[in-house]
Amino acid sequence: MDKLVIRGGKKLKGTVIISGSKNAALPILAATLLTDDTCVLKNVPYLSDINTMIKLLRELGKDVSMIADIVTVKGGDKNKFRAPYELVSTMRGSICVLGPLLGRRKKAEVSFPGGCIIGPRPIDLHLKGLKELGVDLKIKGGYIIADGKKLKGNRIYLGGHFGSSVLATANVLMAAVITKGTTVIESTACEPEVADLVNFLRSMGADIEGVGSPRLVITGVNKLYGCTHSLIPDRIEAGTYMMAAAITKGDVFLKDAIYDHLLAPIDKLRESGLSIERAKDGIYVKYAKRLKPVYATTLPYPGFPTDLQAQMMALMSVTDGISVITEKIYPERFIHISELNRMGAEIMLEGPNAIVKGVKHLSGAPVMASDLRASAALILAGLVAEGATEVSRIYHLDRGYERLEEKLQAIGASVKRVKE
Ligand code: EPU
Repeated sequence: MDKLVIRGGKKLKGTVIISGSKNAALPILAATLLTDDTCVLKNVPYLSDINTMIKLLRELGKDVSMIADIVTVKGGDKNKFRAPYELVSTMRGSICVLGPLLGRRKKAEVSFPGGCIIGPRPIDLHLKGLKELGVDLKIKGGYIIADGKKLKGNRIYLGGHFGSSVLATANVLMAAVITKGTTVIESTACEPEVADLVNFLRSMGADIEGVGSPRLVITGVNKLYGCTHSLIPDRIEAGTYMMAAAITKGDVFLKDAIYDHLLAPIDKLRESGLSIERAKDGIYVKYAKRLKPVYATTLPYPGFPTDLQAQMMALMSVTDGISVITEKIYPERFIHISELNRMGAEIMLEGPNAIVKGVKHLSGAPVMASDLRASAALILAGLVAEGATEVSRIYHLDRGYERLEEKLQAIGASVKRVKE
């Protein structure tokens, strides 16, 4: 297994090109199941999660190729409708084949995804929404066995205990687009990745109104067609590099990052004192003065993203004063705290609130990555820590950050991948 060795203390300076969005790519790749025509996706990041989704599409009878950042998907086999445990268990995002399989093949058997290191991740909203569209569902042998022969449009409320759900919205939407009648989904997720999926489905010929809003109105069509689509840039990758620039007192241009997708984190970072400017083709980030502590609470979009919570905590751990970071999406997503504390941070958990007392220095240490975003937080801490930080289990990072060490090296970080 590989590990990353980081020597802290270097100011980051230069340009990082932001890759295509992982969380837009996964449901959009799944949406190609809605047609046998050729779909061409551009700006697809080269990540292990994308590779898993490609394997799953092949398992479901699709012919898929990836050359550089372009993925071409064609063909299909209506007799294939089983998403096996071996693939779904490695990536929860695989659940988003359920909706398109039902829409197009009227049948799906998808392994139940189960728990995850960031806490329980139920799929009740996915199942509720599909049932309300007329899907007959059973859980058997760890699989969701779904029959979509009676699918029809309906008016559905999809809000849950923690607000809207990104992939439940994607699943219900993808089942509804080629289902007879009109479907109105209330309380849909408004994340840019959902909007990108809606735009892709529209290019395929779907009739959807309300893109980017919490209410989608879908008029079912008989058939969808192939198309070409370029994915939005990854706002979480951009936010991570923004915080990397801040923690190293650097000066970085995030090429291709979309300012409007990052309003909440930009707002918090500015409140802390970071200089952030919108440019035509990206975002400039510059450390201009000593940062101040902030209170940040994760919320569904357009609120502060849970996927940047750990990275924000790493930054606040070296920011003078007391910050409070509250997690409202995944109440157990705090596994990074103990690792940051091993590096000298002073973070205490009080219910869903992490109380972060900024320290003067972090000290490099061997640490263990536990999930994708927690791993990113440890890398940020390593960039500012004294001495060497060794981050093991970095396969988590390879799931979601394209060429991370290359991009960091190019802006001056001392980061090396070594075989353990
Ligand atoms: N929830 C339910 N019931 C459901 C589904 C979700 O209660 O049926 C709850 C969840 O437990 C959570 C909240 O609703 O409290 C939001 O979860 P959501 O369903 O939106 O998460 P997701 O769609 O499974 C996507 C991203 C995650 C990201 C979340 C929140 C993908 C592949 N994954 O997951 O990304 O954290 O939205 O924005 O799009 C990551 O990239 O590191 C990652 C974990």
